[in-house]
Amino acid sequence: MGAKYEVRDGVAVITLDNPPVNGLGFETRREFSAGVDRALADAAVRAIVVTGAGKVFSGGADIKEFGSPKALAEPNLLSLILQLENATKPVVAAIHSVCMGGGLELALGCHYRVAAAGANVALPEVKLGLLPGAGGTQRLPRALGVETALNMIVSGEPVKSELLASIPGQKLFERIVEGDLIDGACAFAREVAAKHAAGAPLPRVRDLKATHPNADAYFGFARNMVKGMSRNFPAPAKCVDAVQAAVKFSKTGKFEDGLAFERELFITLMMTPESKALRHAFFGERAASKIPDVPEDTPVRPVAKVAMIGAGTMGGGISMNFLNAGIPVVMLEMKQDALDRGVATMRKNYEAQVKKGKLAQDKYEARMALLSTTLDYADLAQADLVIEAVFEDMGVKEQVFKALDKVMKPGAILASNTSTLDVDKIAAFTQRPQDVVGMHFFSPANIMKLLEVVRGAKTAKDVLATVMAVARKIRKTAVVSGVCDGFIGNRMVEQYGRQGGFLLDEGCTPAQVDNAIQKFGFAMGPFRMGDLAGNDIGWAIRKRRYVEKPGMRYSKTADLLCEMGRYGQKTGAGWYDYQAGKRDAIPSQAVVEMIEKHRAALGITPRKISDEEIVQRLVYSLVNEGARILEDGIASKASDIDMVYLTGYGFPLHRGGPMCYADQQGLFNVVQAMKRFAANPLDDATFWQPAPLLAKLAAEGKSFT
Ligand code: NAI
Repeated sequence: MGAKYEVRDGVAVITLDNPPVNGLGFETRREFSAGVDRALADAAVRAIVVTGAGKVFSGGADIKEFGSPKALAEPNLLSLILQLENATKPVVAAIHSVCMGGGLELALGCHYRVAAAGANVALPEVKLGLLPGAGGTQRLPRALGVETALNMIVSGEPVKSELLASIPGQKLFERIVEGDLIDGACAFAREVAAKHAAGAPLPRVRDLKATHPNADAYFGFARNMVKGMSRNFPAPAKCVDAVQAAVKFSKTGKFEDGLAFERELFITLMMTPESKALRHAFFGERAASKIPDVPEDTPVRPVAKVAMIGAGTMGGGISMNFLNAGIPVVMLEMKQDALDRGVATMRKNYEAQVKKGKLAQDKYEARMALLSTTLDYADLAQADLVIEAVFEDMGVKEQVFKALDKVMKPGAILASNTSTLDVDKIAAFTQRPQDVVGMHFFSPANIMKLLEVVRGAKTAKDVLATVMAVARKIRKTAVVSGVCDGFIGNRMVEQYGRQGGFLLDEGCTPAQVDNAIQKFGFAMGPFRMGDLAGNDIGWAIRKRRYVEKPGMRYSKTADLLCEMGRYGQKTGAGWYDYQAGKRDAIPSQAVVEMIEKHRAALGITPRKISDEEIVQRLVYSLVNEGARILEDGIASKASDIDMVYLTGYGFPLHRGGPMCYADQQGLFNVVQAMKRFAANPLDDATFWQPAPLLAKLAAEGKSFT
């Protein structure tokens, strides 16, 4: 796999050929470079056309090589671009479908570019916390103009080729080719070869100038805009610096200085924890869909029709995902009024989107037209996948799964959205446990990205493969979890919540804890989160769970809060006070007094706890339970745990997830901190016993990932 070479009537066509996206890996670069040499050496070749095989021109760097020495091995991308730029015969890039990152930088090294309409053109490096490092920040402003180029570089978003070609004065695309792209590109190459033979020089993007009439004011403005948008990420501001350098060095005519400056910024960004976190999340997302013992070519079952049991909070939200993806849903309830309420809520959600201009009226209607409702199980029989979201009660689940077992066609997948119950027990209510799986969505289910796919002891491999494929279709990040109480996410959050309680007992207020962890980057602290989800839910779980585990210590403040009737936003009061119709969390004197009274009853003298200690105790409680989850085989890799926390629990993206964060701190240091916490008599020494896996990795100087 690399590059193909052919000569068509005096034009050498060199085709990048490295499926799936013609990534510019070492082999590809080597063969491509050899092709260019061959074309230059062949007297019968007058011009060169560069393109990509299959569906894309090039998606850019080969992600498999990322960060490895291979990425820099000669010919590296910079050298390849120079080779094209200095070629003595005209080089034309023929661009179609996708031209991104290094692919676009390569094209900018060509003398001319022609494109098919509809190609997505982008420099998306910023999304990995980087900037284009092979001249993109220097050449694109020269070809496209400073403002358009900076917008593209800072946002990383794709722009259609025909739109770029329509910008007055642009030099990115010579023309948009209609009809066969390669034929068109070869015809164009012959035209320019004739002109070149007659003495016309070969244009190079580096010889153009990047100018702006009010450069200082514009870059000042751009810097402010970027600051507001990208609080925790250094890359966008560096993109502005790099493009500003393109303008500066256009004046002095020193293109090479601009390249060197870009390189320096690129290397600096590559080392930042933020970029490491973003790259970790990028790979983690892809890795999550791979299940160690389920081969990638496992055949999947067709899912053309979905049934939903329960039209409550989750049932409605889950159904919307399928309607949005064009998959019909039939929804079942016990009573007509429950169905009516559920449908009305879905309509309200869609109408809010229509009002905001996010959804067209006709699309809304088309989606609702895919929904049908029923009170009769017989109407579900033909569904390929049924998802249950009824009350969280094993007795109710039993009724539902026994009923489903009777009516569903053979091969249908039976999924439960349970958040705490044993999926193996649920599977055992049926005669087909191999077809039963957990699909644990998060609320609001039409918005939250995360889907925990709970693999039962008997769940068939093709059922897992199918559910992962379904998740992709409805644009969820699916992570496989084994069966255990709370699965990955809630099992860890329980420890985080317990630690939050200990902090209250020792001297913190809820607001102090929330503010510290929000400053760290969490969307919401544990107490605001409790108020949003409903504190009574945790209360019910504790009543059940801590009866089973009597030795488990936790702060009683959360129970006392519920005894005060403060369930959270829904009752207008929780850890915070709320004003009617508003979501602002107002610190509550009554709650502070309750905590102080409880503290006094325990004989604790409060102490001032630093934000640093709060953050470490909360995050490391996640890390320690995460390590146990890995050990138990509930998660198959550390990055899966990080994906759960990044997509389902508001863990700050620039920290990469709890396991990635712990790795960045150094596991040795994490364990040291845990030893300090364990020595605090008010904390819980058992709680801070490092999980054996964590202790082992720390001792060996290794990391989770
Ligand atoms: P909900 O109370 O809003 O909705 C449950 C619905 O199921 C009600 O409309 C009820 O009429 C219906 N129902 C009850 N028994 C039924 C039966 N035998 N046949 C048909 N319909 C029946 O509850 P919610 O919040 O939607 O939760 C549903 C499930 O999703 C539970 O298992 C819960 O643990 C789980 N879950 C809830 C999350 C949340 O944040 N609310 C998050 C993730 C999972």
